Amino acid sequence: MLVSAKEMLTKAKAGKYAVGQFNINNLEWTKSILQTAQELQSPVILGVSEGAGKYMCGYKTVVGMVNGMLEELNITVPVALHLDHGSFEGAKACINAGFSSIMFDGSHYPIEENIEKTKQLVHACDVLGLSIEAEVGAIGGEEDGVVGTGECADPDECKMIADLGVTMLAAGIGNIHGKYPENWQGLSFETLDAVQAKTGDMPLVLHGGTGIPSDMIKKAISLGVAKINVNTECQLSFQEATRKYIEEGKDLQGKGFDPRKLLAPGAEAIKATVKEKMELFGSVGKA
Ligand code: 13P
Repeated sequence: MLVSAKEMLTKAKAGKYAVGQFNINNLEWTKSILQTAQELQSPVILGVSEGAGKYMCGYKTVVGMVNGMLEELNITVPVALHLDHGSFEGAKACINAGFSSIMFDGSHYPIEENIEKTKQLVHACDVLGLSIEAEVGAIGGEEDGVVGTGECADPDECKMIADLGVTMLAAGIGNIHGKYPENWQGLSFETLDAVQAKTGDMPLVLHGGTGIPSDMIKKAISLGVAKINVNTECQLSFQEATRKYIEEGKDLQGKGFDPRKLLAPGAEAIKATVKEKMELFGSVGKA
């Protein structure tokens, strides 16, 4: 059964480790992530962007697929199904479809409007026992085709949003989605420290988990980060393994590739990436 992310994140924050959010794009990714979490006895959050939700035939299909897998694969570790960077309408649609967690990304609205919309969704999630993530300060890079430049969060604004009763808070601290450029300045630990000081026990979320050096990940966790999002790194490992398989030309004697075999190396590569991240984040054995 899907669970809200609240309990796993409260435990992670107290235990000084982070739960990985791995974005899903299809059946193979979802299965690989769930099997790895089960094997490593780690809690896990499955992230679904609005674009990936559309690709997978809508949120109800995603809920059906994930619930089916939890049962058929005998998954017993805590799993939350979470909307990633949701719009106000997208968040409502996921609540109705049976997600156990949502992110409302109101960071592009003026702070008053972000507060107002977040407040309404906090209420809806409270009633249904779902977890909710809010965002303050922009996270740079590309997310579903929208490219933004990073912007560090204002710690006072973080406190205002945290006080609305959200479960977790994504604060921009110089992190960006996708690959980090050569001249990247690194994470702003000063901002993270100030946000943590203002928000206390609130589990903080680090987006753009691909390509952040391990020492920075560990330091971020020590400063209150309890959830780390990873997407691009799974995409890269999936791509590399699939490309290699095609180059080796293992098709069915001229009848084309067997789709199940074609996607298998990519699925294995995702398992390896997820394992590496769970070990780095310290969530192994914490289910
Ligand atoms: P990366 O694609 O950089 O791993 O970031 C994922 C993310 O933050 C999703 O919200």
